[in-house]
Amino acid sequence: MIKTLLNGEWNVSESNATVDIYSPSNKELVGSVPSLSQEELNTSIENTSQAQLAWAERSVQERGEILNKWADLLEERKEEIGTAIMREVAKNKKSSVSEVERTVDYIRYTVEDAYRLNGEVKRGDGFKGGSRSKVGLAEKAPLGTILAIGPFNYPVNLSASKIAPALVQGNSVVFKPATQGAISGIKMVEALIDAGLPKELVTVATGRGSVIGDFLVQHPRVDMISFTGGTSTGRHIAKLSSMVPLVLELGGKDPAIVLEDADLDKAAKEIVAGAYSYSGQRCTAIKRVLVQDEIADELVDRIAHKVKSLSVGMPEDNKDITPLIDNKSADYVQSLIDDAKEQGAKVVSGDTREGNLLHPTLLDNVTTDMRVAWEEPFGPVLPIIRVSSQSEAIQIANESEYGLQASIFTKNIDNAMSIADKLEVGTVQLNGKTSRGPDHFPFLGVKSSGLGVQGIRESLLSVVRDKVTVINM
Ligand code: NAP
Ligand code: G3H
Repeated sequence: MIKTLLNGEWNVSESNATVDIYSPSNKELVGSVPSLSQEELNTSIENTSQAQLAWAERSVQERGEILNKWADLLEERKEEIGTAIMREVAKNKKSSVSEVERTVDYIRYTVEDAYRLNGEVKRGDGFKGGSRSKVGLAEKAPLGTILAIGPFNYPVNLSASKIAPALVQGNSVVFKPATQGAISGIKMVEALIDAGLPKELVTVATGRGSVIGDFLVQHPRVDMISFTGGTSTGRHIAKLSSMVPLVLELGGKDPAIVLEDADLDKAAKEIVAGAYSYSGQRCTAIKRVLVQDEIADELVDRIAHKVKSLSVGMPEDNKDITPLIDNKSADYVQSLIDDAKEQGAKVVSGDTREGNLLHPTLLDNVTTDMRVAWEEPFGPVLPIIRVSSQSEAIQIANESEYGLQASIFTKNIDNAMSIADKLEVGTVQLNGKTSRGPDHFPFLGVKSSGLGVQGIRESLLSVVRDKVTVINM
């Protein structure tokens, strides 16, 4: 059994209860992690919360040095951790290793940025009637204990992007890894402890979210929650939690709007990369194409041509399309394809399946009565919706409950800017695929796609509060 970090030690659960993690590709047991009880978690969270006080007193340079050492160790162990990601979530080997490399860069940038965050000094006379002899020091103070809950699809990167800002700013962390991804998450935390972080500062809360999630979210020692995952889980957390700041990065239904003057080669290339990488299991995947009638046939041909060149198979062989996280997800994606077919959508390619390995599927003539026009598949299926005008494209784009990102493909930048203004999303990409990076850009969703902002500066600010000391001279 793999040990987790509990009460400042690498421990199993007292009851020896475990959650087994099976590989989505070959269905073999990858390992078992402790299934922790509420009592065990409670004691450990108390300890983690207590340990934060001494950590906050250390200088940001000291904290940063430990995190930089963490980055060094992750770099040294990228093959081992990348292999764990590949086995647990079936992301192809190359992308799994590059997830660790991206995390290394993320941590280093976070430390650098934390060194440069300073408070403000204000004089009282800036406000009517205020006195110049009143000086306010507005500093940033850590919130306390951050509950970091990560999703399966980036089990290392999207966890570290919560843990690193929290720690460098002087917080402690309760880390709830996605169950499918927990082994990679534990390996990542092992590197953090080997880098010199006091063990009490982190509790790794392994166990199923459906069992321990509500308890964690409502724990009185949790001072802020940073969650990435599905919209329904995010909504549930928002309802349960009380009086703590929340950052929620949730689902998406990112449209690519292709106008008649677009560079179609470029659009097709970006759309295919955006829609199908990691088999469509990305919040920022392009999940629908809204294309003007005049160029639709040509665009579909070009996309279809590129989809045919995607390789399908096992993550060890570095295939583009690999098995989905589980059969339930594959069944769900299949149900969206089947519904679209029944209602008259044309299958241009794909719609073949071996268990949870779905071939990349391109659906043309999708209409707004079909589920695939609105629901987030989290799998390798891309619907093409033909529109008669750009205003129709904007309308359909905005009718979605989601608002993560959108792409616009056109050569007319003035027009693109005016469409971008109208789109209700966190980020608009002009002539490029939707995606989170570069990681120091603000990253956010609106509507059902989230609350609050990540990024690097934004994540650092999300885990601190203002602390004002006034000198009355
Ligand atoms: P999920 O099912 O919502 O799970 C996310 C995390 O929440 C997991 O760690 C899960 O633990 C935990 N959890 C489950 N129930 C909980 C509860 N009651 N309280 C607290 N935590 C709970 O999402 P997923 O399947 O891992 O990820 C796919 C979804 O995430 C997609 O919708 C995708 O769009 C979204 N996503 C969004 C972003 C973004 O930045 N916007 C990034 C990545 C993914 P268990 O694993 O133990 O169930
Ligand atoms: O799945 C959600 C991630 O935040 C997407 O990140 O755009 O770098 O793949 P990505």
